Formats: sequence, C-alpha cells, structure tokens
Amino acid sequence: MEKKTLNKEVLAAVRHVPLLSVAAARILDLTAQVDHTLADVMAVAKNDAALTARLLKIVNSPVYGLLEPATSLERAISYLGENLVVSLVLEDTIGAYLNKPLPGYGGGSGDLWRHDLRTAIAAKEIALINRDRCPPDVAFTGGLLHDIGKSILSEFLKDGYQEILAELAEKEVVDFVGGERDLLGIDHAQVGYELARTWGLPEVMQMVIRHHHEPSLAPEDLKPVVYAVHLGDIIAMMGGYGTGTDNLFYRLDQRYTDYLVVGPEQMGMLMLTVEEKFNETVETLQMR
Ligand SMILES: [Fe+2]
Ligand SMILES: [Fe+2]
Repeated sequence: MEKKTLNKEVLAAVRHVPLLSVAAARILDLTAQVDHTLADVMAVAKNDAALTARLLKIVNSPVYGLLEPATSLERAISYLGENLVVSLVLEDTIGAYLNKPLPGYGGGSGDLWRHDLRTAIAAKEIALINRDRCPPDVAFTGGLLHDIGKSILSEFLKDGYQEILAELAEKEVVDFVGGERDLLGIDHAQVGYELARTWGLPEVMQMVIRHHHEPSLAPEDLKPVVYAVHLGDIIAMMGGYGTGTDNLFYRLDQRYTDYLVVGPEQMGMLMLTVEEKFNETVETLQMR
C-alpha cells in the first residue's frame, strides 16, 4: 500500500481515540505549569468522585500502613504525591491505550505502561539533578506519555517490525523511527504528537512526545526537559525494559551534555534508583 494512504489511515485512527476525561485534561494542564502546587491538583481531583474514591482506597491500602485511615482527599494526595496522582489519572483515562499489547513491536500487554513508567521515573531523577532548568514533574508526566503513539502505530506495523529489523541490519535505516517512516510514512513520535494535539495536551507535552528521539529539534527553551525524557527513555531501555523488539534500536543524542548535567558515573546509579522507585510505584498502584 502507498505510504501516503497509510499515513492518512494512521491519522484517521488518531481522530477516533476517545478524548481525555475533564479531570485528566486539567491535571495534565496543571502539571505543565511550572508554578503549580499540590493544592491546585487537589482542587481538580475533588470534583471527580471516582478519582477521589480511588485515591482514598490506595492511600488506605496496607502498602502505606497508616495507623489511622485517611478520610480526606487532602491527606491522601499529600501522602501519594503528584506523580502518583498523575499516573493514576492517566491509567484511568487512557489505560486501555497504555496497557494494550503492541504486536507491531513484539510487545505484550502492559509492556508500554511499564516502559513509560520507568522512563518517567528516570526523566524525573535526571530533572532533579538539573532542577534549575528542568521541572521534575513535567519530566515525569512527559516520560509517562512519550511513547503513546506506539499504541496506535502498532496496529499498522503488524509484522513490519521484522522488515525494520532487517533494514537496520542492512544499515538502510539508522534507527527504528527511521524504519517506521520508511515503512509507513510516519513514526510513533509523530503519531504521538498528533494524538497529543487531538487531546489538547500542553505545548511542552506535545514537544516532548514529538521530539523524544530527536531532541535537538525541540524548541530551545524546552530542550532540557526533552533531553531528560530522551535520556530517561534510553536508561529504561538499557535496563532491558523497552516495548519489544525495537529496544535499543534508537540513538542516544550525546548533545544532552549541553543541556543537562549527568555524568557517566551517574548512569549506573540512575538505573538502580529507577528500578527501586519503579517497584515501589507498582506496589502502590497495585499494578501487575
Ligand atoms: Fe519512542
Ligand atoms: Fe520509549
């Protein structure tokens, strides 16, 4: 089939994805604002009864071992923290996309979500070292969403990944996104960007998703956060947690050192921290 026709079909599929819930859209908007507070997040969450109930249930689960049950949303959110609230909101609203198996990448159910969560944690850890130019919560949410385009493109890729792997072996393309473009006329970062625009996600999220494999193309003021997610993605993959056969068929843009202070000696430590925090988060979210 013509690449152009395919490209149109992919974009049509993006338009059929359900919209975000009101609470999710507002919380994502908030997290992209540098000066927001946990109280702002709370104000949105309290208008969503299902979310409030879920947050209270989690904070009162044995994982937290509270002596007295938390009955107020305020207490629940201050225990859990913003990143967990965002993870939950996203899981509730677009969980079907985040947990979908990725046959086009040879990935199973939940692989995308686990990879995204590891990327988010790694990106946030990197941002914490570079706090002056890189807001940690924005890096976290960007990490959670960076590969969302794969949930759509996977359907179109089908067995195509084998062809991409062959192209990579023959050096006809330099990375997996190049292979996607070669085969389908569009890559998962572009599809994710279209999805982010359809959902009306904040500009910074749109840019993180669009440029996470080519961070040098991001707008100058957003480069630190885009590079943090780029590097977080590579760290998640180095740990062996990608989304399938495409793992590590992406290039690390070494120019991250122009925007972020992360020494080579910190990489090993980051991988360990990510693993530890990932396990904690999964336990809290009671994910499998
Ligand atoms: Fe990606
Ligand atoms: Fe990724």
